[in-house]
Amino acid sequence: MNNLTEKLEKKQFLERDEFKWLLENNTPELRADLSNRAQRVSGETFGKGVYVRGLIEFSNYCKNDCYYCGIRQGNEAAHRYRLSEEEILDCCALGYDLGFRTFVLQGGEDPGFSDEQMAALIKKIRAGYPDCAITLSLGERPREVYAAFYAAGANRYLLRHETASAEHYRKLHPRELLLENRKACLQDLKAIGFQVGTGFMVGSPHQTVDNLVADLLFIKELNPQMIGIGPFIPHQHTPYKDAKAGTLEETLLLISILRLMLPKALIPATTALGTIDPNGRELGILAGANVVMPNLSPVAVRKDYSLYDNKICTGDEAAECRVCLSKRMEGIGYEILTHRGDYPQE
Ligand code: 5AD
Ligand code: FES
Repeated sequence: MNNLTEKLEKKQFLERDEFKWLLENNTPELRADLSNRAQRVSGETFGKGVYVRGLIEFSNYCKNDCYYCGIRQGNEAAHRYRLSEEEILDCCALGYDLGFRTFVLQGGEDPGFSDEQMAALIKKIRAGYPDCAITLSLGERPREVYAAFYAAGANRYLLRHETASAEHYRKLHPRELLLENRKACLQDLKAIGFQVGTGFMVGSPHQTVDNLVADLLFIKELNPQMIGIGPFIPHQHTPYKDAKAGTLEETLLLISILRLMLPKALIPATTALGTIDPNGRELGILAGANVVMPNLSPVAVRKDYSLYDNKICTGDEAAECRVCLSKRMEGIGYEILTHRGDYPQE
């Protein structure tokens, strides 16, 4: 066992069967070994610093129908909202005052928010906050649109691949959505010059160990600057409402493996991880993550951006989350850093 973890740390890679072995032998001892190594590797680049991103969930309209997601178009029980440009700029102002230097604009694939409006908004944020990074999480778009967003001043783009197996992808998404397109989008984003993030849900319905190994191999090959993973959590108004949630233990193991594979990647301890366990985010950092993403959206709309059930922090003001996260990080000997937190230069 130690051989494998040592090999992973040294070579930043393993054979398919070796990754599989780690996933099938996920004991507390193995996790302790991997998280010690992952923390050390993370510390070499980031010290005890944790980067912070202000998440603005600006629209929960979505034209897609992903079977796992609470804001899927087919969920008629969802209460839909779309923030105005002014409301979004207010979130940025509040976030800036709280020390955030990265804004993440996340929304469903909302046809009601046009590409032109989006580009205009990005330009305004760029002009108002020249020292901040702008991250987008807006799903699949044509290459020209991505290029226009980049030209308007966006720097980073998050687009999880969700699963690297085409067969598994079809079990999670309706026919119109294809893994091929998702991968092409990631290549476009990279070619345009975005810092790119991808990732997947841990324990998503029908996921196998082989699927997870394929995810690891895909991520190694793509070599993204950011990797977001979190447990799948069922949402009551989706076809997968009765599916089992992903586990804390498997998510932590995968965070450590990913840290050892991509030592400099920006890896968040996600809200979903904090939702399945009260200390999930702290444990995520201790497993090798180095980013937290508190919510900057107005409290009035928080509970409506519900991708999964029982999401944490839906009643807390941004300032409360900021303080809460600082304390949580201090509690484990880490410290929130308030600069842009770009991918480290090689
Ligand atoms: N549980 C956990 N994560 C989810 N996401 C969507 N629905 C769920 C769910 N039910 C994740 C997807 C998406 C990201 C924005 O949120 O991986 O890419
Ligand atoms: Fe929101 Fe703790 S991070 S209350």
